[in-house]
Amino acid sequence: MATMQMSVRPEDLSQVPKGNERIPEAGMLVVFGASGDLTKRKLLPALFHLEQTGLLPEKFAIVGVARRPLGDKFAADMRAGIVEFGGVDESDPKLDHFVSNISYFPLKFDAPADYPGLKVELERIAQEKGLGGKRLFYLATAPEFFAAIIENLGAQGMAHPEQGKATIVIEKPFGHDLKSARELNRQVNAVFDEDQVFRIDHYLGKETVQNILVFRFANGIFEPIWNRNYVDHVQITVAETLGVEGRGPFYEKAGALRDVVQNHAMELLSLVALEPPSSFEAESVRREKLKVWRAIPSIPILDVVRGQYGPGVVDGLPVAGYRDEERVSPKSGTETYAAVKLEIENWRWAGVPFYLRAGKRMQKRATEISIQFKQPPLLIFDRLASQAACQVIKPNLLTLRIQPDEGIALRFGAKVPTTPVMDVCPVNMDFDYAAAFGKSSANGYERLLLDAMLGDQTLFAHRDGVETTWALYTPILEAWAAKQPEKFPNYAAGSWGPECGDHLIAREGHAWRNDLGREV
Ligand code: BG6
Repeated sequence: MATMQMSVRPEDLSQVPKGNERIPEAGMLVVFGASGDLTKRKLLPALFHLEQTGLLPEKFAIVGVARRPLGDKFAADMRAGIVEFGGVDESDPKLDHFVSNISYFPLKFDAPADYPGLKVELERIAQEKGLGGKRLFYLATAPEFFAAIIENLGAQGMAHPEQGKATIVIEKPFGHDLKSARELNRQVNAVFDEDQVFRIDHYLGKETVQNILVFRFANGIFEPIWNRNYVDHVQITVAETLGVEGRGPFYEKAGALRDVVQNHAMELLSLVALEPPSSFEAESVRREKLKVWRAIPSIPILDVVRGQYGPGVVDGLPVAGYRDEERVSPKSGTETYAAVKLEIENWRWAGVPFYLRAGKRMQKRATEISIQFKQPPLLIFDRLASQAACQVIKPNLLTLRIQPDEGIALRFGAKVPTTPVMDVCPVNMDFDYAAAFGKSSANGYERLLLDAMLGDQTLFAHRDGVETTWALYTPILEAWAAKQPEKFPNYAAGSWGPECGDHLIAREGHAWRNDLGREV
């Protein structure tokens, strides 16, 4: 298919704000569960990217907290992580200074006796480096420790210090169903006020996810057609080629619906579907997102399907089935694929199906949103076409490529030149992020960490939002738990998921768009 590239002129780029003056006050980041992968692969590289762009305060320290006695090895590991996963040059002149502000404190998360020592150590570091009383606590532990850590911080008066301010960032998963999410919210809010709490969904830190709002509301031409009068249906795909990557015990309890659909996919859906917020303030954006989720009626069990991958070939290499992964039950009933059809019952969207799917070990890694518009009311050209050059006239399709190949494409029909008849061929207008703005090594956590340090909750989940999305999926999870799937595994690794996923969308005459990526 023909594709025309959209380009950005140098004079347009000079208008792009460079960072800006959003530099937080001096403070300290305290990461619980710091010996885990997230800290090394994502958090520290992101913090160093902030340092490189001058967005970290001059006086800043990072304290890793976990069980093992790591001592100085921790800072050395973090340095290696920044270089390996942050695309940072070993000889970067800022690296040594940055690493000199990293330290480690061993602690058992559920041992109250360990917390007074932590408090003293944080005060000592703050005193020595002149950091004042600002603390950002980051919970990157296994979720079962969240409540104990929060309670212990509260018991030591660390949630409401006499000077400065404490905030807390809580990683996903936030609960595993409605009841547990409510209970966790209760425990969090018993210690921290809601304006101190930052429930993270790293998808909201991705540039292309934030760009959904810019695309919709910084341009005048899309909003008038962004509704049931013009849109036929919407597809949201979060496809990964990776398997569970040694996270068997976690994934066995999670599964695709809990791990990705309830949070990442639902966040994407809310940004596509929300009404224009009155401003880009936390309160306005969250209110509009909540309205979308609340307008979704309870999901019939027949509108959700699950799958699990068996052995197959991914990127040319043979891979094991899910049940043969490390620390996974050979009889596991956990889904590695889930697809759902949703309706949003409001004036904008009534009658427009939204299809969501998420899967591991799929044929291609791609997170995309595609908005398929209705066919023109009258196809005056197909009678005249030779049918030789192109197939049938395809409806307009707007594709938001979240990752990889970040960009936006619009498909429309164009006349094939020189043929004597009116042959219409689909072509693309394609905007490519990297070509326009350069390739970025940011991982999404830069923006979220910075916002948390600045106290801006716009890109974080609110307690009501988390509970509303859990309320939608909990009945499905319960029904699934009560009935083991009969035909697992039901898709081969490296395929596009199980047949039941295709049937779900075919019921209404649609098909998943599997040619994801640059070519639409
Ligand atoms: C995480 C899930 O939240 O998101 C993982 O727990 C998943 O299972 C990951 O692989 C996907 O994130 P990304 O940024 O690679 O799309």
